[in-house]
Amino acid sequence: MRIAIAGATGNIGALTVSALERQGHDVVRISRSLGVDLLTGAGLDDALRGVDAVVDATNSSATDRDEAVQHFGTTAANLLAAEQRAGVRHHVLLSIVGIHGVEGNPHYAGKREQERLVAAGPVPWTVVPVTQFHDFAAMVAGWTEQDGVALIAPLLVQPIAPADVADVLAEVAIGDPQTRHVDVAGPETQDLVDMARRTHQARGQEVKLVPTWSSVFGPSMAGNVLLPGDDARIAPTTFDAWLAAEAAATASRAAEPATA
Ligand SMILES: NC(=O)c1ccc[n+]([C@@H]2O[C@H](COP(=O)([O-])OP(=O)(O)OC[C@H]3O[C@@H](n4cnc5c(N)ncnc54)[C@H](OP(=O)(O)O)[C@@H]3O)[C@@H](O)[C@H]2O)c1
Repeated sequence: MRIAIAGATGNIGALTVSALERQGHDVVRISRSLGVDLLTGAGLDDALRGVDAVVDATNSSATDRDEAVQHFGTTAANLLAAEQRAGVRHHVLLSIVGIHGVEGNPHYAGKREQERLVAAGPVPWTVVPVTQFHDFAAMVAGWTEQDGVALIAPLLVQPIAPADVADVLAEVAIGDPQTRHVDVAGPETQDLVDMARRTHQARGQEVKLVPTWSSVFGPSMAGNVLLPGDDARIAPTTFDAWLAAEAAATASRAAEPATA
């Protein structure tokens, strides 16, 4: 099959490209750095020529609610319209578990808009709600880190390995449209503060973590709101196994001879 990955240079997009190419599919890469911009539509019609299915794994760095809704809404609308023109038969959206139960988060408002447009749109679709990735905790700590101190909320999550997310997206993309896929999650619940501390340790970074509900994530995200439903599909890679790979990658980088 010919499958386009929007967000092909990103964390999940790049792994999804690899997963599909390993299976022998013809993959089209879409991102601004590769000359295709979903916000303006530039390059999109050319990129989608002959494409059977599209996976949307793009992201937005907007921290303001209106900006996030505008970004995800515009990119989704442009992508879906171009898919209709190109005769694409399946649109797959990477979404997040729990976004319908948390009102105040700007990113989640943007993702809800993306889901709304996909479900109301002209192309047969599958929305795949996924829990936080194994690298989420360190990324969140990085948002506020200053002089070795970071603020982080003690969220309860059931994180998943990025490579497992990519495998699910690749499998869904080559199959028939399913509308809403069941929640996809990792095998164990974790506390985000503990995940960040252990990730920093595995990467050889020293960061003092200050647990708080008064920074990026507020109390509306406390409790079970981010956990998957009872019928969730559970991916195999544990956080411990992912951490061991992070530690090994850090050790191997440290052992590399310095280049001029
Ligand atoms: N982090 C989590 O724990 C988590 C959990 C569940 C779901 N998700 C969702 O997963 C999705 C992907 O996350 P990620 O961390 O893999 O993203 P990422 O690493 O930030 O990558 C984003 C990709 O989108 C591309 N992109 C951004 N704006 C674009 C535009 N206007 N036109 C074309 N391409 C554009 C970027 O490339 P250029 O910059 O070159 O354009 C990049 O390839 C997000 O929607 C997020 O909400 C995240």
